[in-house]
Amino acid sequence: MTHPVAMVVASAPGKCILFGEHAVVYGEPAVAVAIDQRVTISIKTHQKPGATWKLEGVPFIAEKHPHLEGLRKRLWHLSEQTPSLDIAINSKLPSAAGLGSSAALSVAFSAALRAARGRRVDEKGWCEGFSSELKTDPYNEPRRGHEAGFIRNGGRRLLGKDAIDEDECAILAHAIEAEVQKGRASPIDSSTVSHGGCTLLSDDFEKGLDWRYSRQLSTPEGKRNWEVHDVPVPQDDVWLVIGNTGKYSPTGKMVERVASMLAAEPERMNEIITIGSIARRGADALKKGNMEAVGICMTENHLLLRGLGVSSPELENLVKAAANYSLGVKLTGSGGGGCMIALTREPKQTAEAIELAGGRSIVTSLGTSGVRIDDDENVPFWTPGVADS
Ligand code: PMV
Repeated sequence: MTHPVAMVVASAPGKCILFGEHAVVYGEPAVAVAIDQRVTISIKTHQKPGATWKLEGVPFIAEKHPHLEGLRKRLWHLSEQTPSLDIAINSKLPSAAGLGSSAALSVAFSAALRAARGRRVDEKGWCEGFSSELKTDPYNEPRRGHEAGFIRNGGRRLLGKDAIDEDECAILAHAIEAEVQKGRASPIDSSTVSHGGCTLLSDDFEKGLDWRYSRQLSTPEGKRNWEVHDVPVPQDDVWLVIGNTGKYSPTGKMVERVASMLAAEPERMNEIITIGSIARRGADALKKGNMEAVGICMTENHLLLRGLGVSSPELENLVKAAANYSLGVKLTGSGGGGCMIALTREPKQTAEAIELAGGRSIVTSLGTSGVRIDDDENVPFWTPGVADS
């Protein structure tokens, strides 16, 4: 059976962590903002069901793309019915640079797959998806459901944009990140890029902020719980200038390095806790719109990250160059290479200083919009039977 060509284009922004990277893996607070640069993914049906998927025109190799493969397993069971896909990715984010490119890719891909397959709802709500009555566990393989009540209850299918849910994209992307990072992943990237704006993760409910949801994960170091909040982004004439060292640095490796260091020297957990208190102060300053205080906290946070050993000579070089024009400077993301950020009212001078020091600069506003469907045609790509949910 062949299908008419159908397509979905979805995008999600990258993110910068303002405070708390690494410490957040151990349950400490962290704050991140969505940035203007986005990852766009388009999926199109091709050929017959069962044919090899293509990525950028060449056969898709699951082992090379664990984020995409993890989502495919959860949202697109290969069967007689499910069409094969042609996937194309257009990213304005450097990968493995601390800007959340893999979370943005995962969030955009989960949105695209959901828009393409649609979502069944009946009068009681969703019949499929992570919070449906199927009790699908996004951190593991999904269970196949048979809800006989669906048709009886006048079930219908939400399609395209209407099928998208930011929470679902965030939780699926977190599950995939956890899988790829050997169980150690906070939801900071996935939540920020899915919802957009500014996100605070904390071990507790924070007064004066909108609480979104809780997230739990069993990590090799024990169970973690994060309370995820929305932080209002101050309407201030302030910018982030990102300086990319151009040095590739995979998150998993850096997270593991910190984990081994803490296993060897448990007393250094104090540094993790101190990063947590800086993040709390930084979030408070952000809430009050005191950008000078936000900058000071960023710089203090950087000094602690440097102490943990996750900076690099390349990052230090760019941090030093940008410091003269900035309210605050720090590395962002897992470090070891990748990017630094400067909070500044002089974006042009800051960007020039970064470029002169040998970095590549990107200027962004703070807290852009989250995941979205940019286009769709002929959705759903196929109509799953009840047993295919
Ligand atoms: O993926 P990156 O480089 O943006 O870093 C993510 C932040 C970490 O705290 C280092 C890891 C995590 O899962 O929170």
